[in-house]
Amino acid sequence: MKAVVSKQPGGPETLEMVELDSPKPGPKQVVLEIKAIGVNFPDSLIIVDRYQFKPDRPFSPGGEVAGVVKEVGSEVTSLKPGDRVIGSCGWGGMREEIAIEADRCLAIPDEMPFDEASAFILTYGTSYYGLKRRGDPKPGETLFILGAAGGVGVAAIELGKAMGLKVIAACSSQEKVDFCLSKGADVGLIYPMGDLDRDQQKELSNQIKEVSGGGVDIIYDAVGGAYAEPSLRALNWEGRYLVIGFPAGIPKIPLNLTLLKSCDIRGVFWGAWVRQFPGEYETDVQELFDFYKDSKIKPHVSKTFPLDQSGDAIQHLMDRKATGKVVVLTE
Ligand SMILES: NC(=O)c1ccc[n+]([C@@H]2O[C@H](COP(=O)([O-])OP(=O)(O)OC[C@H]3O[C@@H](n4cnc5c(N)ncnc54)[C@H](OP(=O)(O)O)[C@@H]3O)[C@@H](O)[C@H]2O)c1
Repeated sequence: MKAVVSKQPGGPETLEMVELDSPKPGPKQVVLEIKAIGVNFPDSLIIVDRYQFKPDRPFSPGGEVAGVVKEVGSEVTSLKPGDRVIGSCGWGGMREEIAIEADRCLAIPDEMPFDEASAFILTYGTSYYGLKRRGDPKPGETLFILGAAGGVGVAAIELGKAMGLKVIAACSSQEKVDFCLSKGADVGLIYPMGDLDRDQQKELSNQIKEVSGGGVDIIYDAVGGAYAEPSLRALNWEGRYLVIGFPAGIPKIPLNLTLLKSCDIRGVFWGAWVRQFPGEYETDVQELFDFYKDSKIKPHVSKTFPLDQSGDAIQHLMDRKATGKVVVLTE
């Protein structure tokens, strides 16, 4: 089977396609024949050793896959060959086959195609956990999303609307704003690219207050960097600031701002929560599949790449060219 691997730390151009033996399942594992691999921002970090997990090399990037069960381990009773599943592997997905723990697989609804399935659980799971369990949303409140046209951002738009929130989508271009409006955002806002100077930060803060009619109740920050503080300055009294990710860098925040607004800055670490609270995760997964069946959410796969161009797929994300999701297909 073919596998795209990282043999040394480096950018997407250092990934290599190699031929490997098919894996065998351990007792609690299944082997999946992979059809599609969702590309996520952590793929760009893990190959340069800047992610929280540092797998031994050679390894394949690719944290979530969709495919068909080929073989099951001796102790697996929950799955059988032929089942269509999503596999949350963390890494190791950019290849034709993978051995994965059975309890890290979810059966795919019949109506969900493989490309959408591979782009589903990490983004919607994160945004649902963030908004539902960390955001304390109340219908009618205003949700402000930084990086709204990206993977987790678009999921936050759709879920925010499903929760009855007024959604303000912020991103770096008119094209991305238009895309967010087409996905249900009520208002769009364009911010400049690059490190914002003091004046640009002030302007961003004022823009947010202006389009929201005074301030926002929940901030979903999937960008970080120089965008964080001006956004926090536009948060309402007792607002919630959700820390999701840092493609633009890890910001430092003056703590006095939280006192002045009696507001909360809340961390959101979906993967760790899933491992600690499997029962609650199962509830959320079922609710997300119900939203999908009711057409309230739908992964937007804007571009696909063949397996041998997996590096280009990751580069596409890093270049901020993607809207919604990028997916690698094995055939
Ligand atoms: N907390 C969790 O549990 C959790 C779970 C999943 C993902 N995450 C994190 O969430 C963040 C977003 O992930 P994603 O998969 O949605 O990524 P994505 O699809 O690439 O979206 C990220 C967005 O960030 C913006 N951005 C701003 N500065 C950027 C820069 N220097 N480089 C690249 N993008 C930049 C881009 O939008 P504009 O061009 O419009 O600015 C882009 O659309 C990542 O940091 C990821 O690690 C966290």
